[in-house]
Amino acid sequence: MRRILVTAALPYSNGSIHLGHLLEQIQTDIWVRYQKLYGNECYYVCADDAHGTATMLSAEEAGVSTEDWIDRLREEHIKDLKLFGVEHENYYSTHSSENESLTLGIYKKLFDSGAIFTDDVSQLYDSSKELFLADRYVRGKCPRCGAEDQPGDNCDVCGATYAATDLIDPRSVHSDTQPVLKSSTHYFFDLAQFADFLREWTTSGTVRDDVSNKLDEWLDAGLKPWDISRDAPYFGFRIPDASNKYFYVWLDAPIGYMASFMNWCEESCVEFDDFWQLHRATELHHFIGKDIINFHALFWPAVLKCSGHRTPTRIHVHGFITVDGEKMSKSKGTFINAATYGEFLDPETLRYYYAARLTPTINDIDFSFADFVARVNSDLVGKLVNIPSRCANFLARGFDSRLATELSEPALFDEFAQLKTTIERLYELGDTAQVVREVMLLADKANQYIAANAPWELAKQGGKERELQNTCTLAINLFRSLCVYLKPIVPQLVQRSEEFLNSGQLGWNDVDKPLLDHKLGEFKRLMNRVEQKQIDKLIEASKDTSTPEPDPMPDIISIEDFQKIDLRVAKVLDAKLVEGADSLLELKLLVGTEERSVFAGIRSAYKPEDLVGRDVVVVANLKPRKMRFGTSEGMVLAAGPGGSDIFLVSPDKGAETGMEVR
Ligand code: MSP
Ligand code: ZN
Repeated sequence: MRRILVTAALPYSNGSIHLGHLLEQIQTDIWVRYQKLYGNECYYVCADDAHGTATMLSAEEAGVSTEDWIDRLREEHIKDLKLFGVEHENYYSTHSSENESLTLGIYKKLFDSGAIFTDDVSQLYDSSKELFLADRYVRGKCPRCGAEDQPGDNCDVCGATYAATDLIDPRSVHSDTQPVLKSSTHYFFDLAQFADFLREWTTSGTVRDDVSNKLDEWLDAGLKPWDISRDAPYFGFRIPDASNKYFYVWLDAPIGYMASFMNWCEESCVEFDDFWQLHRATELHHFIGKDIINFHALFWPAVLKCSGHRTPTRIHVHGFITVDGEKMSKSKGTFINAATYGEFLDPETLRYYYAARLTPTINDIDFSFADFVARVNSDLVGKLVNIPSRCANFLARGFDSRLATELSEPALFDEFAQLKTTIERLYELGDTAQVVREVMLLADKANQYIAANAPWELAKQGGKERELQNTCTLAINLFRSLCVYLKPIVPQLVQRSEEFLNSGQLGWNDVDKPLLDHKLGEFKRLMNRVEQKQIDKLIEASKDTSTPEPDPMPDIISIEDFQKIDLRVAKVLDAKLVEGADSLLELKLLVGTEERSVFAGIRSAYKPEDLVGRDVVVVANLKPRKMRFGTSEGMVLAAGPGGSDIFLVSPDKGAETGMEVR
């Protein structure tokens, strides 16, 4: 028997459980249920990830204390996950005494081993809120394409990545004031010390190739020190012997896996150390999304290694959910929360659909409503539930619900049993899409068997009682085997089937031995079809009209719109570097007789001295913008994706400065 500890990534204490979280929680739950059903010792722990600036600000906005806020969300999360049949041994919080003492203990080990160092870091700071600003809390104009209101790490319009300090006219999203640069001391974990270990670890069967290829990119680029500290105000654990510093949420979050398990071990007779100390014959499996690979397959194993703990056995990584081919969107009603789903649809329909789409790869998974309806209705209702509903009545009416004493075609029953090792392998790999495919092929066979033997015909003819009972007995036994195989995926549906079968809980090895000479329970409808109108209502209820998403870029503008833009030929009189802005050049332009000063994000492609004397095209009637370095009075036109591929637009010979461009 294997002894396995399993985790799913900890949802932030910041919003409701949605389709994305559910994908992971359901995937993990299916794997855990399979392990338990197979007979392994398996524990599943999770928690809310409570720390960080985002939690603090959400609580502030809601007008409650941070502690109240995280308690409230945790209760909601537990309720939502339970609704979808996700069963954890423990669902804890990272804001716990266990987590604090584990985090401090691990930090001390890292510190004592020489893996921690300090360095000064200059960061944007909101002086009115007295808050250092993480990149996502700064917005401004993209230094490459000039798009307005872009986040501090990358541009949504042109895709450029940059530092928040490169933004033109940056604003703090908290106060809409202009942030200032401020320096403070940060604590770093020297990840590079673990480069050799990580190279080895990531290629030793812990992750699949698609993930290790991604990891190679980071490893090849050289591992940078990891900043594990944040300045006050912050919601988290204080760093000892540091003034007003907190551990970055991502340091204590994975330690939250340990803390949740520790908290559970206190009340059960399982030994915490068996799963976290070195050289124990136990397994540790993490299920995560592809966005947090670096935290789980680089930082986390290095932290565990450095602090003398065991490292994970396997990291299972899934892709992202899209809805009808697009990112989940609040305005389109496709940002669907768990609770809303539960209002309109049976939660097990989601478990089934996800299982049917999940493979071990990191490919994104599309939730397509049409496909969803088709699969639930044709597979679960049309194929699976159809088996007993075609047979149960004949047994009830003619045979007091008793199954025959033997199987008329044992070979068919055996064929179902023989798939067991294949299904085991597929569950273990996380290829539930293939599990579902295999099981549905068997369901087709069961239905073909029923059609070929037509119990309804046998019932009409006299003297065919024996055949009728035999046919229905075999069909019910085939159904029972399918229930065993699907039990990790649709436990509620199987539970209702178990009540009908009336022989207790199905076990994994029940596919080997038929149920015979046995009285069945009453047959009730096991599952309903999904109707399109349920989905329409779900989408309607998920639409958030209060926060409309920004309009997409208009494809077409009118000639009047175009005529509003005053394009002019200009001559570059002077060009120079801008201190503190790595992407900008300051240009002095002559537009007709007027001199203009323009900041352009073209430094990666042009040297200032190469520009002097050149003619360019400038948007002359752009509203002047105040920036940290001065005011920009226009914009020069350039083509290309950015980086070193920026190509200034110039008029042909003969054009004179100030001429209108049309
Ligand atoms: N708090 C961190 C995890 C810390 S684990 C020590 C976090 N939280 S999260 O709430 O943003 O995401 C939790 C999990 O849900 C992650 O594994 C993430 O990949 C997954 N998903 C969140 N949105 C998702 C989709 N739209 N699709 C699929 N999974 C996604 O990250
Ligand atoms: Zn841009």
